[in-house]
Amino acid sequence: MRYFIGIDVGTSGIKSIIIDEHGELIARVFKDIPLYTPHPNWAEQDPQDWWQATITTIREAISSADIDAASVAGIGLSGQMHSSVMLDENNEVLRPSILWCDTRTSEQCRWITETVGEENLVNWVSNPALEGFTAPKIIWVRDHEPEIYDKINHVVLPKDYIRYKMTDEYAMEVSDAAGTLLFDVQRRQWSHEMMDAIGLPKDVMPAVFESIDICGAITKSVAEVTGLKAGTPVVAGGADNTCGAVGTGIVRPGRALASLGTSGVVFAHMDEVHVDPDLRVHSFCHSIPHKWYLMGVVLFAGGSLQWLRNTVGEIEVSAAHMMDIDPYELMTRQASRAPIGSEGLVFLPYLMGERTPHKDANAKGAFIGLSARHDRTHLIRSVMEGITFAMRDSIEIMRDLGLSLSEIRATGGGARSDLWRQIQADIYGMEVVTVNAEEGPAFGAAILAAVGTGMFNQVEEATDEWVKIVTRTEPDAKASEQYDEYYQVFRDLYPVLKPGFDRLSGLVKKHT
Ligand code: XUL
Repeated sequence: MRYFIGIDVGTSGIKSIIIDEHGELIARVFKDIPLYTPHPNWAEQDPQDWWQATITTIREAISSADIDAASVAGIGLSGQMHSSVMLDENNEVLRPSILWCDTRTSEQCRWITETVGEENLVNWVSNPALEGFTAPKIIWVRDHEPEIYDKINHVVLPKDYIRYKMTDEYAMEVSDAAGTLLFDVQRRQWSHEMMDAIGLPKDVMPAVFESIDICGAITKSVAEVTGLKAGTPVVAGGADNTCGAVGTGIVRPGRALASLGTSGVVFAHMDEVHVDPDLRVHSFCHSIPHKWYLMGVVLFAGGSLQWLRNTVGEIEVSAAHMMDIDPYELMTRQASRAPIGSEGLVFLPYLMGERTPHKDANAKGAFIGLSARHDRTHLIRSVMEGITFAMRDSIEIMRDLGLSLSEIRATGGGARSDLWRQIQADIYGMEVVTVNAEEGPAFGAAILAAVGTGMFNQVEEATDEWVKIVTRTEPDAKASEQYDEYYQVFRDLYPVLKPGFDRLSGLVKKHT
């Protein structure tokens, strides 16, 4: 029997899984990683924490699977996108990693947009300068820590740093390179125009591969500490979003992933590259050779429901504790007692600002339409509906750009609840399905390892064999019609409220 290992360098922790040659999960080990927030809006991690946790999770996974390490045919890596790892000429880490969710770089984003121009951003890198992306982080270090900037020899992303530690090889692959803002997404190569325009030396970024390419092998010293066999091939792997998409079978046109975790992601496969001329959704490279995807991000999707649970959900939390069930289960039961549209209560989920479609760090959350008739059942339902309307914004832009979508694959918390799956099907006006893949990006990374080491010829072949549909939820025509009407109100609210949001942000800055 052959085995494949998938490793995900996530923001909450490191996950290592082992699957067998039938795609069955044999072992899964997860280890938390601390997140440091030394200032408001900052989010950092120590790459050494990732590496130590990677060693531990691989060692424990091999031991719990009780397999011979020589039967591990390949390893795939996945990881948080955009987060920077800066290395000096001795390959030592120069400073903590600045993470994708760190928003200190607004000033640098403005500078990049002014220096490069929106039109060149579209043509060269297909994406806007956003706080989360890698290039603004490098420019922030140039502006605020020049002594560190001068020592930068290489910039890599989290999973690529782990690859370097495992194999002694520097490499990146197209799906993560696409999120740096330094990559020509359409031609799948570094954008020298972009690097020249912002004054970044070209040799700072590593060689770039396709996700299924083998670009390293386990070294002898790593074999000793992990229990792996020296020489085990490591494939390039992919961004957490592309690996999550591979793991759920988003590998053909017409399919999109709606992932509802803390943030919400809509990810739609493309055979040909489309770029939004207004840069509202991202165009990135998929982990399948010559394929791309469009992505929209709702920054605080499941996070908004968690906020509601923490602020007004005490009753559900303590009742759930007594009944030994998940508080969200009780909350969704409550929500099911309110009607479609929550009797006119509309929620905007912009509690952390918003990425798609507004690109506005000042955007705020709001309940609009409150009346004395509303109770907690309406509050909960309107939060679930508002998050789903925000996801639909991305779907609408994708349709405007010519994508014809027919099936949504739901993952994350939003996929576990029957009610939320129905709300999604009704609001998207499309069938919503769930699949058997529970392990997220780590599973996709293991699939890339299986393809890269020759078990399958193509990613599509692997997912056809291993990814199966488990539930199907059809939209209800009448509910969809009603939701269409509420969605139009949702869409109209942000432009009207924006001046107020900006003024409130100004006041908060002034008085705190
Ligand atoms: C995508 C993004 C996040 C991270 C999470 O643009 O910023 O989804 O990839 O790890």
